[in-house]
Amino acid sequence: MHTLAFMNQKGGVGKTTTTVNAGAALALAGKRVGMIDLDPQAHLSINYGLDPSEKRASLYDVLLNDLPITEAFHNVGTNLSVVPADIDLAGAEIELVSTLGRELVLRKRLSAQTLPFDYLLLDCPPALGLLTINGLACSNAVIVPMQAHFLALQGVAKLLETVRLVNQRMNPSLKVGGIVLTMFDAQAKLSAEVIHELETFINASRGKSLPWSEARVFNTRIRRNIKLAECPSFGQPIFDYDPDSNGATDYKKLAAELIDAFPT
Ligand SMILES: Nc1ncnc2c1ncn2[C@@H]1O[C@H](COP(=O)(O)OP(=O)(O)OP(=O)(O)O)[C@@H](O)[C@H]1O
Ligand SMILES: [Mg+2]
Repeated sequence: MHTLAFMNQKGGVGKTTTTVNAGAALALAGKRVGMIDLDPQAHLSINYGLDPSEKRASLYDVLLNDLPITEAFHNVGTNLSVVPADIDLAGAEIELVSTLGRELVLRKRLSAQTLPFDYLLLDCPPALGLLTINGLACSNAVIVPMQAHFLALQGVAKLLETVRLVNQRMNPSLKVGGIVLTMFDAQAKLSAEVIHELETFINASRGKSLPWSEARVFNTRIRRNIKLAECPSFGQPIFDYDPDSNGATDYKKLAAELIDAFPT
């Protein structure tokens, strides 16, 4: 099983949209997919029709009530299951602070069970707090969704530094898998410049022992597409909401690249 953390501490860059729809695309390709909503905003859960104000087994119960993680997965489609976030998760970060091995709680819960998935995707919150660290501590690779904006690279540098620390201190197998450009506008001159800078930065690390020395900038650019913004309010991934949209096309292409990067 490949455990992939979709992470960027910057808010609103397309982490959840990418987790939801790359997950759905992998499931359509016949892969068995689990997803964990690590964000108290619960947007991934909502996007799969799991209302965070309703009571059901959630990530909170797994982290703080010792619920076996297999009992917190809810089936949301063929080959597709979600451990949802709920309103309690906002408190989990504070409650975890006094827990021994607080960074490794999710890893412990995951390693206690054999999960029936090819891919486990984690939707991280826009912060480098304990929930994100728990996600990184149990992942094989980080996938970084980002917009091709001026200053975006400074944020990525901070993110990479966090990955390096987690890699050194608690998860030596953690790597940066790649960067996905989201809400992409091919017309913007800046887009090409940001991609060039990213590729230069990653290429300079090739052969060095850094967690991002094998990272790739995925060839698939996720275009700006209003259908992607609309589908969460219908509780559906893009393939149910509008399978002919650019959003559906792009996330299918991204899933093919993910399968190539992380073969099963
Ligand atoms: N390709 C796209 N085209 C148009 N709208 C998009 C696209 N990707 C994401 N959006 C919209 O942009 C907003 C932010 O996206 P999303 O919630 O996926 O980002 P996020 O990084 O998970 O945010 P947060 O940091 O709050 O968790 C949402 O309203 C989403 O619907
Ligand atoms: Mg999000």
